Amino acid sequence: MIRDITSYDLAEIVHLNQNALEGVGPLDHDSLMLLVKMADQALVVEADGDIAGFVITIPPGASYDSSRYRWFEDTLVDDYVYLDRIVVSEAHRRQGVASRLYEEIEGDKPVALEVYASNDVSLAFHESRGFDEVGSLDHAGKTNLMMVRQPVPSDTAS
Ligand SMILES: CC(C)(COP(=O)(O)OP(=O)(O)OC[C@H]1O[C@@H](n2cnc3c(N)ncnc32)[C@H](O)[C@@H]1OP(=O)(O)O)[C@@H](O)C(=O)NCCC(=O)NCCS
Repeated sequence: MIRDITSYDLAEIVHLNQNALEGVGPLDHDSLMLLVKMADQALVVEADGDIAGFVITIPPGASYDSSRYRWFEDTLVDDYVYLDRIVVSEAHRRQGVASRLYEEIEGDKPVALEVYASNDVSLAFHESRGFDEVGSLDHAGKTNLMMVRQPVPSDTAS
């Protein structure tokens, strides 16, 4: 089941996030609350009462103090979805959870996000999903590959 993040989920989401620092930046309760407030989509997949994964996207024009977000704000001309982070719990990986979350947030707009150059799993996932590298940006001692997925024609067919 996919549903919106609620305040009851925050502790579990922080825990999931902090167990996935090979792929995402750290979060505490307050920074997660701010992020969810800024988000246009903040979703979890629930499986047997547990959170199997979550995704947070930020709309263009937000006052988000992130060098990666600002890079896309300065680079992309058309409307787009910025995917701030996606994490699937270790127990639920490779079962299509992230794919299901992407189906939910992808629409008729490009989706933009960064992937650490060291994150082979995420790169395999995003390449399989049709993302292309459009640049790179160093931040906090890591190289971020800046990636965009253009909507496929069937996305705009409705
Ligand atoms: C990246 C991540 C979100 C993928 O989530 P997931 O639910 O396991 O992904 P899916 O099951 O939907 O995978 C879809 C496809 O992606 C590719 N893929 C996913 N995991 C992979 C892996 N470990 N190795 C190679 N390919 C992989 C495969 O093509 C897979 O299809 P298949 O299973 O039919 O072969 C998850 O590994 C994760 O949370 N990692 C830690 C946090 C992170 O890195 N987030 C991304 C930040 S940019």
